[in-house]
Amino acid sequence: MKNWVVGNWKMHGSLSMVTRFIPTLLDGLTEVRGWEQAARVLICPPFPYIAPVAQKLTGYAVGVGAQDVHPLHQGAFTGEVAAPMLAELGVSACIVGHSERRRYNRESDALIGDKLRAVVTAGITPILCVGETLSQREAGRERQVVKRQVMSALKGLEPAAFAKVAVAYEPVWAIGTGRTATPEQANEMHQYIRTLLCANLSPEHGSATPLLYGGSVTPDNAARLLALPDINGALVGGASLKAESFLSILKHSLN
Ligand code: PGA
Repeated sequence: MKNWVVGNWKMHGSLSMVTRFIPTLLDGLTEVRGWEQAARVLICPPFPYIAPVAQKLTGYAVGVGAQDVHPLHQGAFTGEVAAPMLAELGVSACIVGHSERRRYNRESDALIGDKLRAVVTAGITPILCVGETLSQREAGRERQVVKRQVMSALKGLEPAAFAKVAVAYEPVWAIGTGRTATPEQANEMHQYIRTLLCANLSPEHGSATPLLYGGSVTPDNAARLLALPDINGALVGGASLKAESFLSILKHSLN
């Protein structure tokens, strides 16, 4: 399976950043032999920058992703963006259920499931984010929480459609905090998610689902995390805002 390296810019960036970042990334990639075979690389900028990023990436094996989506395909929902609109712009993946949206926008498991199905229907790969808070981990409830998040997102999805889904385990206490899960903690949860998927879908689909880790991934810790057998990539926030550090993480994913 390819290692995924996904940059989540969150609400950062500008047109001038896009103008600098994309050529620097593409230049850097020309020096990395065979990366297209080994990695799936995606940049998820804020909505207004999707089109300019996609345009600059035309003809390159770097995809553009979105950070969120509305569950319906059209309608009177001021300010929202539908999955077919994203598909039209060339978006190939969409983050769904990020913990910041669960927290600040009070997104429920049910809504996240609806978004996930809308994304799949539009032919876009959802990157389903799951992960426990610090208090949930301290209470020993991390598996229970992650199981609920994964299972409710899966509900109503054909096993064959789930073959298109990627899952990102992002412990909330590790996001933007500089506090990364230890490789053991990350790998243990990834194994658990893999077991869940195999038991509830099919061993075939469960073992083929890319499982990404996210939460303070940096050039310094990427190699250790990405070397683990059940970690198939990284969802990178802060360290994806500089082309140099994003490239460095990408290089670690190839080793
Ligand atoms: P971080 O964010 O790398 O800045 O911790 C990761 C994420 O929220 O996807």
